[in-house]
Amino acid sequence: MVLDLNLSTMAWLLLLGILALPATLCSGVMLENLADLNKLKLKYDFIVVGGGTAGAVVGNRLSENPNYNVLVLEAGGSNADVLNIIVPFFAPRATPNTAQDWNYTTTPQVGLNGRSVGYNRGFVIGGSSSVNYMVYTRGSMEDFDRWANITGDDGWAWDNLIPYFLKNEHFSRPADNHNTQGQFEPSIHGFHGINTVSLSGFPTPIDSRIVDTTTQLDGYPFNLDMNSGNPLGIGWGQATIKDGARSSSATSYLAPEFLRRPNLHVLLNARVTRVLETSPGVVRTVEFLQGLKGPKYTLTAEKEVIVSAGSIGSPNILLHSGIGDSKALSKLGIKSVHNLPSVGQNLTDHSLLFLSFLVNSTDTFEAAVRNATLAAEEFTEWNTTRMGPLVDNPLSHMGWLRVNDSVLEGFTDISAGPNTPHYELIFCNGMIPPPPPTGNFLSILPVVVSPSSRGEVTLNTSNPLASPLINPNLLGAEVDLIVMREAVKSAIRYTTAPAWKGYVLSLFGLTNTNDAGIEEYIRANAGTIFHPAGSMSMAPKDASWGVVNPDLTVKGLSGLRVADLSVVPFIPAAHTQVSAYIIGERVSDLIKQKYCSCQS
Ligand SMILES: Cc1cc2nc3c(=O)[nH]c(=O)nc-3n(C[C@H](O)[C@H](O)[C@H](O)COP(=O)(O)OP(=O)(O)OC[C@H]3O[C@@H](n4cnc5c(N)ncnc54)[C@H](O)[C@@H]3O)c2cc1C
Ligand SMILES: *[C@@H]1O[C@H](CO)[C@@H](O)[C@H](O)[C@H]1NC(C)=O
Ligand SMILES: *[C@@H]1O[C@H](CO)[C@@H](O)[C@H](O)[C@H]1NC(C)=O
Ligand SMILES: *[C@@H]1O[C@H](CO)[C@@H](O)[C@H](O)[C@H]1NC(C)=O
Ligand SMILES: *[C@@H]1O[C@H](CO)[C@@H](O)[C@H](O)[C@H]1NC(C)=O
Ligand SMILES: *[C@@H]1O[C@H](CO)[C@@H](O)[C@H](O)[C@H]1NC(C)=O
Ligand SMILES: *[C@@H]1O[C@H](CO)[C@@H](O)[C@H](O)[C@H]1NC(C)=O
Ligand SMILES: *[C@@H]1O[C@H](CO)[C@@H](O)[C@H](O)[C@H]1NC(C)=O
Ligand SMILES: *[C@@H]1O[C@H](CO)[C@@H](O)[C@H](O)[C@H]1NC(C)=O
Repeated sequence: MVLDLNLSTMAWLLLLGILALPATLCSGVMLENLADLNKLKLKYDFIVVGGGTAGAVVGNRLSENPNYNVLVLEAGGSNADVLNIIVPFFAPRATPNTAQDWNYTTTPQVGLNGRSVGYNRGFVIGGSSSVNYMVYTRGSMEDFDRWANITGDDGWAWDNLIPYFLKNEHFSRPADNHNTQGQFEPSIHGFHGINTVSLSGFPTPIDSRIVDTTTQLDGYPFNLDMNSGNPLGIGWGQATIKDGARSSSATSYLAPEFLRRPNLHVLLNARVTRVLETSPGVVRTVEFLQGLKGPKYTLTAEKEVIVSAGSIGSPNILLHSGIGDSKALSKLGIKSVHNLPSVGQNLTDHSLLFLSFLVNSTDTFEAAVRNATLAAEEFTEWNTTRMGPLVDNPLSHMGWLRVNDSVLEGFTDISAGPNTPHYELIFCNGMIPPPPPTGNFLSILPVVVSPSSRGEVTLNTSNPLASPLINPNLLGAEVDLIVMREAVKSAIRYTTAPAWKGYVLSLFGLTNTNDAGIEEYIRANAGTIFHPAGSMSMAPKDASWGVVNPDLTVKGLSGLRVADLSVVPFIPAAHTQVSAYIIGERVSDLIKQKYCSCQS
């Protein structure tokens, strides 16, 4: 261990403490048992609740200052050696109902004919970044400028967030090291950040057809880089993949080099049940248990508690703590600590539809699904060389598009502006859910990315270990159904280009393609892409609504912040992990600025 001469007295003491501990504690590991933590006899300046996408960033950045002791409490376990997390192509197996999932289900969804759908969330260090599909998209400039506009804090504007995109991102070569010229725009990327991003590392037969279509049909321009702030068009996907394996907030921000810091501790299997008043109006105490059985422990942060339990977990914790709509809470027998009616409200998500076409090819994902020998070969190739089809997620290209103006007549266009998409098309060389016994497929998945529907997270019981009631209200607003319908028509139109001649044979599953037929199919089949957001929104300091101020402090309380995707006032028209990462980055700077005038 190298000793830094600038180490503070506190860190020295800590180091001496550590030397008396089991060897594992010196080597940059996450702790499994509170007993190990207690041996350190530390006071924590900051306690982060949830070691997910944003929480891991906060833990990392605050502990850059050796004067701060930082503890991250994560309900889930370790990400190490979980193949379905590590192998990019296995992402669809990481959830649902695995040891790394919270196993949530939505309430019956009015927009989906009353169906309930699975609501996957990462229950593991790294949170949803450990189980997601790894697509890296930032969103449109207009999305972030709208955050700035609504909150009155210019710090949330696109231009001012660029340093955080760059701090997060470590753009790297793809697994196959192919020439990536013409597939992305280097000038807008970060090459020195922490979280690796790369282009696909294994070609598929649809790559050239997707790109060729952009010059054959009107309305689908090629976009060299959808992460420039102007996402409209069709382009190559970028993903949080490093050398053919997943890059999550756990593998990046909590890599061993950071866990070796003597002032950063991560406790796994630590399920926070409530945050408690330390003194009236000051909430710096957390209550948690390890596993599901007692006893309950409490710890108090010297400076702040930062809740980063995600768009479902964070409102769940606050509501059980008596921070929420006091009338609704008192009906459940929960004592009100602070009346804040917006907690859990305005939950927003992106609806997705699986849409597939039968193709004249055997070189699709279905080949390995039906041939165990081939699947084993692919795995061996990945395991021995980190090459082959398993180095990529199953989503190769994305398109970001707007519906015709005439379609929205009579509705409010809720997209952030004219350069922000209404819908996304995701291209896949096969089916993602288990395919039928025969046939090979192309999938084009439409997603409603600027939705009007709003739902909520509420409590079913006063038991903090029970699941909350999750109502994302998927396709609840009529305009969202209309956008989805237009997106389906657009996907079908895409396959009429010459590039698909002799390849796409027929539309699969959807038989009646008039408007009513498509709408019926959507209601019966659509689901979610797992982007819950906005359930603990930022609002201006003097607003009568909202949960947190623009600096993410909880309104009306001190000592408590929220930092995860729940704080966004509008969901970005993008896959959401990048927003979670940069929220973690910016809040860390805001906290450092508040407590330290000497260094940051
Ligand atoms: C299946 C799936 C696929 C996705 N695909 C993509 C994609 O391809 N690209 C993309 O950009 N986004 C994708 N997303 C969405 C993206 O991953 C999330 O928006 C983002 O990771 C959310 O970050 P967060 O920090 O808000 O929450 P999370 O990363 O979910 O972190 C919350 C953390 O808090 C912990 N926690 C919760 N409650 C407690 C408690 N009581 N005590 C202690 N800890 C607690 C959780 O276990 C978790 O670790 C996907 C999500 C899923 C589930
Ligand atoms: C989800 O289900 C799996 C499989 O039964 C289980 O291992 C896991 O612990 C469950 N997750 C939670 C948060 O209970
Ligand atoms: C937000 O946008 C509106 C309309 O463009 C503008 O009038 C208003 O001044 C903006 N508010 C802030 C705080 O930027
Ligand atoms: C929901 O968000 C809107 C802004 O989009 C806001 O005006 C409204 O007050 C919010 N509702 C609640 C209950 O917070
Ligand atoms: C299955 O895959 C193996 C290995 O690639 C191949 O040799 C074999 O012909 C395939 N079997 C079928 C039925 O396609
Ligand atoms: C992957 O390869 C390693 C050796 O590099 C081997 O130990 C391991 O068992 C392999 N994993 C699987 C699941 O085959
Ligand atoms: C948009 O509307 C115009 C006029 O109604 C129509 O000609 C055109 O085909 C539409 N475009 C799409 C993509 O539907
Ligand atoms: C709500 O709680 C009741 C009673 O405890 C239980 O029977 C029911 O299953 C719960 N509902 C959900 C959706 O969890
Ligand atoms: C399938 O593709 C082959 C060439 O690979 C072509 O000869 C054949 O006509 C195609 N079949 C159909 C039905 O288009």
